[in-house]
Amino acid sequence: MVHAAASELRVHVGPVSAFLEEDERTVVKVGDREVLVLAVRGRLFAIGNRCTHLPAQLRRGHVLPESFEINCPVHMGRYSLMTGEATELPCETPLPKYAVEVVDGELYVFVPDTPLDPPRADLQSHAAGSGRPAGLHTNKEAK
Ligand code: FES
Repeated sequence: MVHAAASELRVHVGPVSAFLEEDERTVVKVGDREVLVLAVRGRLFAIGNRCTHLPAQLRRGHVLPESFEINCPVHMGRYSLMTGEATELPCETPLPKYAVEVVDGELYVFVPDTPLDPPRADLQSHAAGSGRPAGLHTNKEAK
Protein backbone atom coordinates (compact mmCIF):
# COMPACT_ATOMS: atom_id res chain seq x y z
CA MET A 1 0.00 0.00 0.00
CA VAL A 2 1.18 3.48 -0.87
CA HIS A 3 0.76 6.07 1.87
CA ALA A 4 0.01 9.66 0.95
CA ALA A 5 2.65 12.13 2.04
CA ALA A 6 1.50 14.90 4.37
CA SER A 7 1.22 17.26 1.41
CA GLU A 8 -0.63 14.83 -0.85
CA LEU A 9 -4.28 13.99 -1.36
CA ARG A 10 -5.35 10.39 -1.93
CA VAL A 11 -8.11 10.71 -4.55
CA HIS A 12 -10.54 7.92 -5.37
CA VAL A 13 -10.86 7.44 -9.15
CA GLY A 14 -13.18 4.42 -9.48
CA PRO A 15 -13.17 0.69 -10.07
CA VAL A 16 -9.86 -0.45 -11.52
CA SER A 17 -11.71 -2.93 -13.75
CA ALA A 18 -12.95 -0.06 -15.94
CA PHE A 19 -9.35 0.80 -16.81
CA LEU A 20 -7.95 -2.69 -17.15
CA GLU A 21 -10.90 -4.31 -18.92
CA GLU A 22 -12.69 -1.47 -20.71
CA ASP A 23 -9.72 0.70 -21.69
CA GLU A 24 -11.20 3.76 -20.01
CA ARG A 25 -9.50 7.13 -19.70
CA THR A 26 -10.49 9.54 -16.95
CA VAL A 27 -9.42 13.05 -16.06
CA VAL A 28 -9.48 13.82 -12.33
CA LYS A 29 -9.47 17.51 -11.44
CA VAL A 30 -8.00 18.56 -8.12
CA GLY A 31 -7.49 22.30 -7.69
CA ASP A 32 -5.62 23.52 -10.76
CA ARG A 33 -4.37 20.03 -11.57
CA GLU A 34 -5.83 17.76 -14.22
CA VAL A 35 -4.70 14.16 -13.87
CA LEU A 36 -5.11 11.81 -16.80
CA VAL A 37 -5.59 8.22 -15.61
CA LEU A 38 -5.35 5.33 -18.05
CA ALA A 39 -4.10 1.79 -18.46
CA VAL A 40 -1.77 0.52 -21.16
CA ARG A 41 -1.01 -3.19 -21.52
CA GLY A 42 -2.32 -3.84 -18.02
CA ARG A 43 -0.29 -1.09 -16.35
CA LEU A 44 -1.90 1.93 -14.73
CA PHE A 45 -0.62 5.46 -15.28
CA ALA A 46 -1.48 8.92 -13.96
CA ILE A 47 0.09 11.98 -15.62
CA GLY A 48 -0.77 15.60 -16.24
CA ASN A 49 -3.56 15.95 -18.79
CA ARG A 50 -2.33 19.22 -20.30
CA CYS A 51 0.44 19.29 -22.84
CA THR A 52 3.35 21.51 -21.75
CA HIS A 53 3.77 22.94 -25.25
CA LEU A 54 0.27 24.42 -25.44
CA PRO A 55 -2.59 23.37 -23.15
CA ALA A 56 -4.01 20.63 -25.36
CA GLN A 57 -5.75 17.79 -23.57
CA LEU A 58 -3.70 14.61 -23.73
CA ARG A 59 -6.75 12.50 -22.95
CA ARG A 60 -7.46 12.80 -26.67
CA GLY A 61 -3.95 11.71 -27.57
CA HIS A 62 -2.83 8.54 -29.30
CA VAL A 63 -1.16 5.95 -27.07
CA LEU A 64 1.84 4.00 -28.31
CA PRO A 65 1.49 0.80 -26.27
CA GLU A 66 4.81 -0.73 -27.28
CA SER A 67 6.78 2.14 -25.73
CA PHE A 68 4.27 3.32 -23.08
CA GLU A 69 4.12 6.79 -24.62
CA ILE A 70 1.32 9.17 -25.57
CA ASN A 71 1.23 11.63 -28.47
CA CYS A 72 -0.30 15.04 -28.06
CA PRO A 73 -3.20 15.33 -30.52
CA VAL A 74 -2.30 18.89 -31.60
CA HIS A 75 1.37 18.92 -32.72
CA MET A 76 2.25 15.28 -32.10
CA GLY A 77 4.71 15.96 -29.31
CA ARG A 78 5.24 12.89 -27.17
CA TYR A 79 5.57 11.95 -23.51
CA SER A 80 6.58 8.86 -21.58
CA LEU A 81 3.70 7.52 -19.51
CA MET A 82 6.23 5.88 -17.21
CA THR A 83 8.15 9.04 -16.28
CA GLY A 84 6.25 12.03 -17.68
CA GLU A 85 9.36 13.05 -19.63
CA ALA A 86 8.91 14.75 -22.98
CA THR A 87 10.29 12.38 -25.62
CA GLU A 88 9.43 14.16 -28.88
CA LEU A 89 9.52 17.81 -29.91
CA PRO A 90 7.94 20.30 -29.71
CA CYS A 91 7.37 19.10 -26.14
CA GLU A 92 10.37 19.77 -23.90
CA THR A 93 9.00 20.21 -20.39
CA PRO A 94 7.96 17.04 -18.55
CA LEU A 95 4.45 16.37 -17.35
CA PRO A 96 3.60 15.88 -13.69
CA LYS A 97 3.60 12.16 -12.85
CA TYR A 98 1.38 10.82 -10.08
CA ALA A 99 1.46 7.64 -8.01
CA VAL A 100 -1.44 5.22 -8.26
CA GLU A 101 -2.71 2.57 -5.86
CA VAL A 102 -5.31 -0.18 -6.08
CA VAL A 103 -7.11 -1.25 -2.88
CA ASP A 104 -9.94 -3.78 -2.96
CA GLY A 105 -10.48 -3.23 -6.66
CA GLU A 106 -10.66 0.57 -6.37
CA LEU A 107 -8.14 2.88 -8.00
CA TYR A 108 -6.63 5.90 -6.22
CA VAL A 109 -4.17 8.58 -7.31
CA PHE A 110 -1.91 10.67 -5.10
CA VAL A 111 -2.01 14.37 -5.95
CA PRO A 112 0.08 17.07 -4.24
CA ASP A 113 -1.96 19.41 -2.08
CA THR A 114 -0.30 22.38 -3.78
CA PRO A 115 -0.90 24.35 -6.97
CA LEU A 116 1.09 23.58 -10.07
CA ASP A 117 4.47 25.26 -10.15
CA PRO A 118 4.58 27.50 -12.08
CA PRO A 119 0.83 28.15 -12.14
CA ARG A 120 -0.76 27.37 -15.49
CA ALA A 121 -2.88 30.38 -16.43
CA ASP A 122 -4.81 28.19 -18.83
CA LEU A 123 -6.01 26.04 -15.95
CA GLN A 124 -6.90 28.79 -13.48
CA SER A 125 -10.59 28.53 -14.31
CA HIS A 126 -10.56 25.10 -12.70
CA ALA A 127 -9.12 26.31 -9.39
CA ALA A 128 -11.31 27.43 -6.55
CA GLY A 129 -9.83 30.90 -6.32
CA SER A 130 -7.08 30.29 -3.81
CA GLY A 131 -5.32 27.53 -5.70
CA ARG A 132 -6.23 25.07 -2.97
CA PRO A 133 -7.89 21.84 -3.97
CA ALA A 134 -11.41 22.58 -5.06
CA GLY A 135 -12.69 19.06 -4.68
CA LEU A 136 -12.84 16.14 -7.00
CA HIS A 137 -14.42 16.25 -10.40
CA THR A 138 -14.15 13.41 -12.81
CA ASN A 139 -14.76 13.60 -16.48
CA LYS A 140 -14.90 10.04 -17.65
CA GLU A 141 -14.36 9.36 -21.28
CA ALA A 142 -14.18 6.03 -22.96
CA LYS A 143 -11.23 5.74 -25.26
S1 FES B 1 0.03 21.40 -28.06
FE1 FES B 1 0.92 19.49 -27.60
S2 FES B 1 2.61 19.34 -28.93
FE2 FES B 1 1.81 21.32 -29.31
